Amino acid sequence: MQYQQEQDYTKKLDAGLWRRLIGYMKPYHKHLIAIMATMAVSALCDTIFPLLTREAIDTFITGGKTGSRAWFVLRYAGTLLLQTVCIFTFIRLCGKAELGINRHIRKLAFHKLEELSFSYYDQTPVGFIISRMTSDTSRLGETVAWGLVDLFWSGFYILITTVAMLMLDVRMALLVLSVMPVIAVAAIWFQKRILSSYREVRKTNSQITGAFNEGIMGAKTSKTLVREAANCQEFSVLTGKMRSSSIRAAVLSALFYPIVISLGSVATAMVLRRGGAEVFSAKGWVTVGTLAAFVQYSTGIFEPISSIARIFADLQSSQAAAERVVSMLETEPEIFDTPEVVEQFGDSFNPKRENWPDIRGDIEFDHVSFHYSTGEEVLDDFCLKVKAGQTVALVGETGSGKSTIVNLVCRFYEPTSGVIRIDGVDYRQRSILWLQDHLGYVLQQPHLFSGTIRENIRFGRLDATDREIEAACRAVDAEDFILKLEKGYDTEVGEGGNRLSTGQKQLISFARALIAKPAIFVLDEATSSVDTQTEQKLQAAISVALTGRTSFIIAHRLSTVRSADLILVIRDGKITEQGTHAELLKQKGYYYTLYANQFREEGEKRSWEALAEV
Ligand SMILES: Nc1ncnc2c1ncn2[C@@H]1O[C@H](COP(=O)(O)OP(=O)(O)O)[C@@H](O)[C@H]1O
Ligand SMILES: [Mg+2]
Repeated sequence: MQYQQEQDYTKKLDAGLWRRLIGYMKPYHKHLIAIMATMAVSALCDTIFPLLTREAIDTFITGGKTGSRAWFVLRYAGTLLLQTVCIFTFIRLCGKAELGINRHIRKLAFHKLEELSFSYYDQTPVGFIISRMTSDTSRLGETVAWGLVDLFWSGFYILITTVAMLMLDVRMALLVLSVMPVIAVAAIWFQKRILSSYREVRKTNSQITGAFNEGIMGAKTSKTLVREAANCQEFSVLTGKMRSSSIRAAVLSALFYPIVISLGSVATAMVLRRGGAEVFSAKGWVTVGTLAAFVQYSTGIFEPISSIARIFADLQSSQAAAERVVSMLETEPEIFDTPEVVEQFGDSFNPKRENWPDIRGDIEFDHVSFHYSTGEEVLDDFCLKVKAGQTVALVGETGSGKSTIVNLVCRFYEPTSGVIRIDGVDYRQRSILWLQDHLGYVLQQPHLFSGTIRENIRFGRLDATDREIEAACRAVDAEDFILKLEKGYDTEVGEGGNRLSTGQKQLISFARALIAKPAIFVLDEATSSVDTQTEQKLQAAISVALTGRTSFIIAHRLSTVRSADLILVIRDGKITEQGTHAELLKQKGYYYTLYANQFREEGEKRSWEALAEV
């Protein structure tokens, strides 16, 4: 089994990428600035405390003075209160920003997904999109809200502590600072290794998710192929790998903190030794208070140094998520309306319906060529004129290009060359929504949304009444089975409609298309999964539904297409025969053979059934 490999990102930190990402978080910029401000104040308080300690020792203990204690206590308490308020505020703001940023990016991403064309979904696996939408976005929210802000705090803290130390005593300050590079090097060394182990963990994790996904989706197939044992074996190798890389990461993290603390203690020891000697020497240049302040500074400053290393590693590892989310947000749909068209007719989210022209339904393919972005030419110089109200049937072998033709009509894809005109106008001069609002499309693999049957049908036209919904179901002969369900029209269909059979889903999606009263109707093997009897009943409904509408029917059972105004036989993206049923039979070509074969099979089946009944 091959799993979609998580790409390896060993690149350096890409500041431009983070800047772009932060640009996307515009509504939260104020939040982020407020967070940084409160953090700065809190870091400032952290630097003030040792100074207060110094003052207390030098004044009240070694200085032996008694005055102004109240004033001192007031300042100490005030600083403490200020810091408490700041910490409370920034934790609250960070939490809010994290959730808000998550939601905001998800909204942007979902918006983008609605906008992207079919071709994006052809090339991008669903699992990829889902993990972009869920784990990547939450990771980014976390990194930006806590990581970037923590980075700011640490940097600011180191800076002002350094300044405070230098102002207190340059020689001792240099002593403390001399340990800093050592800690920085150690931190970088460890974080690099921790990062690469985590990367390994995540890579394996995404392989495991992939394996789960395939295991679930392919459960039935695995059983029929007797692959269970082999699959389990492969899965166990993956989990083993995950375990060993997780342990490595944990061991490294466990070693890292004690080492930083030990190095920090070395600095404290040096300060104590040097400063202590000075305190007790005759012309000592260090007071006890200053020494105490330095001890506090030297123990305090190493935590932010190690956390800067950790945050950089974090940013580096989230960079992959950032890259994927940003690249998704920046993907441009392949099919889009030009600015002039949007100006006139609006876009999908803000349509200007008042400017929309009426649609008649004349459709013309004018020397259209087309290939999918991954494949070779499907249509080559294809020409076709369909008059409004005509029913066109497409027949031909699987893969001959029938669905491609109707997908082009629906503007799910656009011609690579040539023009498709609707009512005489290149459809790219109208908005996508205008066309798709006038389309009824029933697919071979219909998709229902989770919700009730009634709600699903109402998606066709939101203001449809219950009566209209029921009439539509009756028209497509779906009412019988719906009423047999426990809750009738209010039965939940499950995710993707998976509590119904494919045939039932086809009937519902047919009713959904019907209720929209579309000008153009497309049935792409829409009745392939219903039984012959239902199909015959549907036949009547179809012919009623299609009158007055331009329609395309793709069907394998030729009984369905017999009454079409125009039947096209498609072979390798070309029309090889065309005409009405009677005309094509006369031609005695491919259609004739196909029909004769099916007719014989149907005939045989019927005589068998007749025999069985005897
Ligand atoms: N989304 C797609 N991406 C790439 N190639 C495709 C896609 N859909 C169809 N094709 C290819 O285009 C050709 C025509 O397919 P299609 O129009 O679906 O045929 P039909 O509906 O007649 O069975 C086939 O060779 C098929 O492999
Ligand atoms: Mg098809």
